[in-house]
Amino acid sequence: MPDKLKIVGGHPLSGQIPISGAKNAALPALAASLLTDETIQLSNLPDVWDTGTMRRLLEGLGVRVTRDSTTSWRLSIDSDEAFEAPYRWVKTMRASILTLGPLLAKRRRARVSLPGGCAIGSRPIDLHLAGLSALGARIDLAHGFVEAAVDGRLRGAPYHFERITVTGTENLMLAACLADGYTRLTGCAREPEIQDLADLLNAMGADIEGAGTECIEIRGVTSLGSATHRVIPDRIEAGTFAIAAALIADDAGLELTGCKGVRLEALREVLSPSDVAWDDSGDNLRVGRAETHRPLSVKTAPFPGFATDLQAQLMVLASQGRGVSHIEETIFENRFMHVAELVRMGAHIDLTGGMARVHGPTPLSGAATMATDLRASACLVLAGLIAEGETSVDRIYHLDRGYQRIEQKLRSVGARIERIEA
Ligand code: EPZ
Repeated sequence: MPDKLKIVGGHPLSGQIPISGAKNAALPALAASLLTDETIQLSNLPDVWDTGTMRRLLEGLGVRVTRDSTTSWRLSIDSDEAFEAPYRWVKTMRASILTLGPLLAKRRRARVSLPGGCAIGSRPIDLHLAGLSALGARIDLAHGFVEAAVDGRLRGAPYHFERITVTGTENLMLAACLADGYTRLTGCAREPEIQDLADLLNAMGADIEGAGTECIEIRGVTSLGSATHRVIPDRIEAGTFAIAAALIADDAGLELTGCKGVRLEALREVLSPSDVAWDDSGDNLRVGRAETHRPLSVKTAPFPGFATDLQAQLMVLASQGRGVSHIEETIFENRFMHVAELVRMGAHIDLTGGMARVHGPTPLSGAATMATDLRASACLVLAGLIAEGETSVDRIYHLDRGYQRIEQKLRSVGARIERIEA
């Protein structure tokens, strides 16, 4: 029986919460270790389930991972014959697909299990495969695997993404670094995590320009070297705690530390009509409780738009809004798994297609709930913080994938929350 969290609502939050390194920057950075024969050192890695999964996947591919601490690792290649990312890891973490580009570029061959869907959607990888084909890879799908190979080096080429894809952009950047010639990617995702990966790759000797814009230019090199790189702070974790502050911080507000420069402009804009104090002038980000719960109107979009990864968490704040809030999910086809659980806690939410209409304010009452995916579980924790009485969140292995001991971080600022070990 998996771990669960127990939360008693109504306790204001105050004090400081340290923000960990970004999971979605750490995973591509770890995959980049496949591209070099030298050692790379990564610091500020989040100590979460998914980085552990990526470590085991890379070790199976001959990468030696030396953990100097839980957040600082050195990676080097012990052997480079293996080329398979097995289903056992891929089925638990879609981001395993990020080994495909580097394996092709460095080892000329890759067999990566098809990731399959997950709770929030079918999660296809057609754009990853089309892009790698444009660089000269032969791609076959057989027995639940992507079988990819290239004779000699990948060849630089232009490629346009018909849809914006974060890991698709990252996979192509990773592959094109070692391709022969010039690659021009257009229609790219612009997330800060993509810029962070380009910073690492350029430190390793790659030649990438334009990361963070829709057009990325890569001039292939014959080999990459060593680098030391600090992963950027996790904007989704910071955004999750900022929403917790807006819900139930005390008068002093909540200080988020270790996240200087974190990109949360879209969230700040959504919260401002509710008079949420937001001060990022110093080293820390201080966020206050919402003074007026105005109804929200937000549509998720690729960066710099409002992050789909904060949509579920924002819905808890919307349930306290005085009026009808509109939250439209445009990235994933099924990212409303948290709605049914919020309704069981007393929220009043109507779903029509990708639009959620949240009628507020509705007092929430504690209930036994179940997590379905990473961010939906964060939403249930936030709901538990303000609900009357006790809330339990079951199956929190979903939460542990992307949040480093969330109950310890929240307890340190006054929440009544504990983990019930299985
Ligand atoms: C990344 O997933 C993040 N994961 C997700 O965070 C995040 O929700 C998502 O980007 C959107 O911001 C990592 O970075 C490890 P996409 P990714 O490819 O890259 C469609 C979390 O909570 N698509 O940008 O898999 C796809 O179906 C996770 O930390 C194709 O059609 O997302 C989706 O509708 C959840 N074909 C849309 O594009 C493709 O080949 C965006 O997906 C690829 C994607």
